[in-house]
Amino acid sequence: MKRYTSQQLARIDKSYIWHPFTQMKSWEKEDILIIDKGKGNYLFDVNGKRYIDGVSSLWANVHGHRHPRIDAAINRQLKKIAHSTFLGLSHPGAIILSKMLIDIAPEGLERVFYSDSGATAVEIAIKIALQYWFNIGKHQRHIFVSLNNAYHGDTIGSVSVGGIGLFHATYKPLLFKTIKAPSPYCYRGELGLDYPSCKLACVKKIDDILTKNEGRVAALVLEPMIQAAGGFIISPPGYLTAAGRIAKRHDVLLILDEVATGFGRTGKMFACEHEGVHPDIMAVAKGISAGYLPLAATFTTQNIYNAFLGEYAEKKTFYHGHTYTANPLAVAAAIANLELFQKEKIIQKLQPKIRLLSRGLEKIKKLQHVGQIRRIGMMTGIELVLDKKTKQPYPFEQRTGAKVCSEIRKYGIILRPLDDVIVLMPPLSITEQQIAHLLASVEKAIRAVTEI
Ligand SMILES: Cc1ncc(COP(=O)(O)O)c(C=O)c1O
Repeated sequence: MKRYTSQQLARIDKSYIWHPFTQMKSWEKEDILIIDKGKGNYLFDVNGKRYIDGVSSLWANVHGHRHPRIDAAINRQLKKIAHSTFLGLSHPGAIILSKMLIDIAPEGLERVFYSDSGATAVEIAIKIALQYWFNIGKHQRHIFVSLNNAYHGDTIGSVSVGGIGLFHATYKPLLFKTIKAPSPYCYRGELGLDYPSCKLACVKKIDDILTKNEGRVAALVLEPMIQAAGGFIISPPGYLTAAGRIAKRHDVLLILDEVATGFGRTGKMFACEHEGVHPDIMAVAKGISAGYLPLAATFTTQNIYNAFLGEYAEKKTFYHGHTYTANPLAVAAAIANLELFQKEKIIQKLQPKIRLLSRGLEKIKKLQHVGQIRRIGMMTGIELVLDKKTKQPYPFEQRTGAKVCSEIRKYGIILRPLDDVIVLMPPLSITEQQIAHLLASVEKAIRAVTEI
């Protein structure tokens, strides 16, 4: 490969590339960061400067970069084959991984359908739910209920069940109709009520919707415990349990999107374990391959799977697939990932780090412009506000969250905010020392931007 200076690379990037979720007008004017390599919990830019990967390369990396076991697994697979189709063929890795996944999946999930991103995993969940009802002759069940502030990916199906105006409103003419229930955003209660005196009125709304549309709803789609991209909105205790019970009572399928939360992020392997809720369908991606390569999976119950069995002419087949479904390299990374979880007791070892994080955040909570800190496991959102008493947000165009994340690069940390919510979501392998540095730097960066 030809060698370029960092300035040349930046110039070429700005001339040819269109980055995701990025206002390119500002990008073209900014000093851009170009990442060259990674090692452990660090990323290194093309000039050799080191940064803690504070958002796990978009909530994906689990055990750090260039983990010797994962690298070796991919290398071993590379010596066999990089890719062969999963349509009409199988391969040992995907077979072994499916057994490993089912062994750790919430009770009742017994089948795995592979794909390659969070959005496709959710899209597949939606299509399976709809076709399940169709295949058993209940054609009228085609409505999907999801939440305001939900994020399930950027393909049209996943956007349809999404609920973030800023990202989704423009595409309304393309979206299928869904019914939205309120977001369990206790800090800014959509229903004008306060938790806990609200008595989970937002869950009651789900019940109302399902009652009003009795027999017509295919599935309730939720991000369990935390609406991540919606602003790290953590649902109050009992919310998920109640929502699951309501879905069951109305004979509606429960689809849980564990794309962000799966594989240890919330301190348990899957977030739904916090309340012992068992979905009918579950979508995972990101951490499944330890954040190495694109891989996703949609789990279903045996009952749902059975509804797709039939004679060829009955046309009950699930007509869906992607070129890179169950890519062998990604699968090799996923197997090594799950082996590490088991051998190194990752979930158990995480607990002291979670406690350290929780204690360290107490100081940040007191800052003048920190409205609320929401944390579950290793997922933390710090909501910045102009006025702590009235919860008045900063003007959108001020980009306060982005400024904090830009400031913190001085201290060798990479973060990416969700509007004015500062997201901390480091790899599970982050050390206690690195957590301390991360928190001290977050405090300094927030102060520098908000207390001037
Ligand atoms: C809950 C949830 N679902 C789906 C997605 C989409 O995943 P992907 O970007 O891999 O398509 C995301 C991404 O952040 C997510 O947080």
